[in-house]
Amino acid sequence: MAEWSKELLEFHEELDSVNLGPLWAHIHHMNTTQPKAKAVPYLWKTELINSYLNRAEKLLEVGVGSAERRAVYLVNPGMKHLQPIAWGGATQTLYAAVQAVKPGEIAPPHRHTATALRFVMKGKGGFGRVDGEKITFEPGDYLITPTWSWHDHTNLGDETVFWMDCLDTPFIMAMDVSFTEFHPDKQQPLLVPDDFSSRRYQGGMVRPISDRQPKSVALGRYKWGLAKQALDGLSEFDPDPIDGFAIEYINPSNGKDANNRIGARMQKLPPHFKGRAHRHVHSNVYHVFKGQGYTVMNGVRFDWSEGDFFAVPPWTWHEHVNTSADEEAFLFSTNDLPIMEAFDFERQEEYDQNNGYQEISDVFQPINV
Ligand SMILES: [Fe+2]
Ligand SMILES: [Fe+2]
Repeated sequence: MAEWSKELLEFHEELDSVNLGPLWAHIHHMNTTQPKAKAVPYLWKTELINSYLNRAEKLLEVGVGSAERRAVYLVNPGMKHLQPIAWGGATQTLYAAVQAVKPGEIAPPHRHTATALRFVMKGKGGFGRVDGEKITFEPGDYLITPTWSWHDHTNLGDETVFWMDCLDTPFIMAMDVSFTEFHPDKQQPLLVPDDFSSRRYQGGMVRPISDRQPKSVALGRYKWGLAKQALDGLSEFDPDPIDGFAIEYINPSNGKDANNRIGARMQKLPPHFKGRAHRHVHSNVYHVFKGQGYTVMNGVRFDWSEGDFFAVPPWTWHEHVNTSADEEAFLFSTNDLPIMEAFDFERQEEYDQNNGYQEISDVFQPINV
């Protein structure tokens, strides 16, 4: 980088004082040779999140006139400085949280520009209403609440229901395009039969003839049993050397991502699986649905077990390992690939040194309860 003379440095300051900038001095911040992610590789232990959610269960009631939602969200330490509220970012585009709904509670209906998806973690008796459809769910199910769709959540069971929420909130904040509307009723009216979209599409291998023209939202719920079945089918063949056995949740009406701005995957790492490293422009938030192992990110080992969450920022080397000799590991993950692909930003690179495996230089120490 050039050394600037005293006169030029003063000139830069003068430009700044009148809200102008010297490109010659700042161009390297704009045209970086590779992405410099604000988010850092990070991992949140499930026990930590749960301990705070349990406290929130005691402190907060959910419903009209009280808290709209009871959710504790992941704050990436590398984004803490972003105002307001760190942009709600687990990565630069993805918000992720764990939400708890106690028996009898109704989280009231609203709709917003941010698109949302959910992965059910624990508890029975929960259901949601999405644009007039009642959607029932159980652990392992994947649900979508696309942009500007009315949604409310209820728990008619006798145990607290927990799920992972993922929205593109930081992206919405970066774009300054957030609109939200609150429904006048405690719950939105039901307009179609219960589980209408899932019943019409069943597993998604076929579509109703009336849906020959693609629909942006065809299916609201993706059952864990069907995802597992697809992974079992894949497992009859060789695993992907990087991701093991992995599937994407798609919109059966157009073959694209189930939620048009956030991708979602379920991957199975067989016992002792040791994936090779790669990096890509799109970022991920992972949730460990089952199993234990570790992920190496930029040379640091992040140990994980059931219920944990971790963030993979853009252009971060990462590789996944299942440390169990007999148990499979299942990782649910969300990504911003639809956004990256829409703007031709996506690139991927495989790690070609050391047979494709990073040298581990450090072990991440998570915050524990
Ligand atoms: Fe919402
Ligand atoms: Fe990856």
